[in-house]
Order: sequence, then structure tokens, then C-alpha cells
Amino acid sequence: MTEWTNDQLTQVDQTVRRWLAELGREARKTKNQDLHVGQKEGDFRNIVTNLDSSNQAWLIDHIQAIDPAAQFIAEEGDLHRPETMAGHVWFIDPIDGTLNFVHEKTDFAIMVALYIDGKPTLGWVAKVMTSQVFHGGPAIGAFLNDQKLTPVSDLGLAESILVVSGRRLLNGERPYLALASAALAYRVLGSAGISFSRLFLQQATGYFSKLSPWDLAAGRVLSETLGYVVKPLDGSPLNMLSSNTVLIATTKTYRESVKIVKD
Ligand code: IPD
Ligand code: CA
Ligand code: CA
Repeated sequence: MTEWTNDQLTQVDQTVRRWLAELGREARKTKNQDLHVGQKEGDFRNIVTNLDSSNQAWLIDHIQAIDPAAQFIAEEGDLHRPETMAGHVWFIDPIDGTLNFVHEKTDFAIMVALYIDGKPTLGWVAKVMTSQVFHGGPAIGAFLNDQKLTPVSDLGLAESILVVSGRRLLNGERPYLALASAALAYRVLGSAGISFSRLFLQQATGYFSKLSPWDLAAGRVLSETLGYVVKPLDGSPLNMLSSNTVLIATTKTYRESVKIVKD
């Protein structure tokens, strides 16, 4: 598979950014009475709407038109998934934070990422209700709309806010409780994309959760571009074909967290 040049990556970056702005406009217009809300895996907290499915189908169609070699790891339906990360692998979370979307009408995202031969290459996190698209990658830089984002300042746990998975914190799972207790404050936001946006804007020092590939892929690209560490606490490599329990954090917060878990 030939790599794309930086000019090609910039073009793809801008194209997907426009698509997400368009899907965002549609999502903002959607009223709850237009939505069919269903449950997944018999869990009343795990909901899905017709907009999740239609966004995903729309994105797959459009991506295939610009990248015929695309393979997909997308949340909805039982789409055939690649068995390795070879070639162009696109990740799609068509609505991230569906529960927020339906019940709060805010704090949800649309996320897309491109990995080429396993390399995090481009990521997009659209914060729909504020018309903000975070986008870019290691070769072209990370942006919020047209504005280049600044590399991260190396703050520790006690100096800033940690975003954590609420469900796991509530279950009393030790690393979540221990890390949240050590932070200046913790937040539970109900959307991986919105949680990542706090890191991109340096409103938090870390985000700790168990994330599916489509929850992690775009945020990983942009976080690494900005200088965050994106790794499990035992230092093992990420596997983008499965779920990962992962800390996305400044170097200082990552080191402090590893120490807390070991002690
Ligand atoms: C969920 C949200 C949530 C995270 C869950 C995800 P969804 O995504 O990102 O913050 O804790 O693990 O499943 O299902 O609304 O796309
Ligand atoms: Ca998600
Ligand atoms: Ca989703």
C-alpha cells in the first residue's frame, strides 16, 4: 500500500472535516420525535438510534468514494472487520455519547480515524453542538477548526482534572478510584469524544477508560500529535482491533498513575 503524501493527507483531512460539519448540521436539526431509539445487548443504558446507523452508512459510502481500498472498523451493525491493521483502516463512531445525544441534546461527538499499516495517521472528533471539529495527525499537525492546537503542558494529577469512566468508578474498580482520588478533581462526561476534547483544549491532564476501537482511534491520533502518552498502565502496546483499558495523559500524569497502581 503506497503511503499518502502530506498534500494528499491535508486534502483528505479537509474533506472529512467538511463531511462532519454537514452531518453535524443534520444532527443539530434532528428532534427526538424523529428518532427511533433501540437498545443494544439488552442493556437499557446502551442505546442506539436511526441516526447512528444512517451516519455510519453515509460515512462509509463517502469514504469508499475517495479511498476504494478502505477497510472499516465501525460501531454499528455486523460489518465485516479486517483481521489485521495492514492497509487503510478507517474507524467510525457515528454518534459517540448516544445517551447524551438523546437525553441532553449536547456533549456528543462524531468520530472518524484513518490508520495506515497500523500507523495512527488522521483523526477527526466533531463536537457537534458547538460546531467544533478537532482534526489532523502527526504529519500535518492538530487543529480545532482552522486554529492549530498547542502542544500539551506537562501537568501532574494534582494540578489538573482527570476524566474517568463513570460506570467503572461507580463499580469501585481500584485503578479508577485511586486515580480519581489523586487528581485535583475528576469528571464523568459520557462521551469518549467529549472527554478527548478536554485534553485537546488542555482542560484536563488525563482520561482513563476502557475504550472500544472506534472510541479510541481518533482521539489517539490527535492526543499523540499533541504530545500525550496513550498507553495501558502496564505499558503494553495498544491493540486497535479490540478494546483497551488505556490512560491518555501528560507524561507526568502517566508516570504518577503508573506509580499509584504499582504501590
Ligand atoms: C460510549 C461513550 C462513553 C464510554 C462508553 C462508550 P457510545 O459511546 O463514549 O463515554 O464510556 O464506553 O461506549 O456507545 O455512546 O458511542
Ligand atoms: Ca462511542
Ligand atoms: Ca456510538
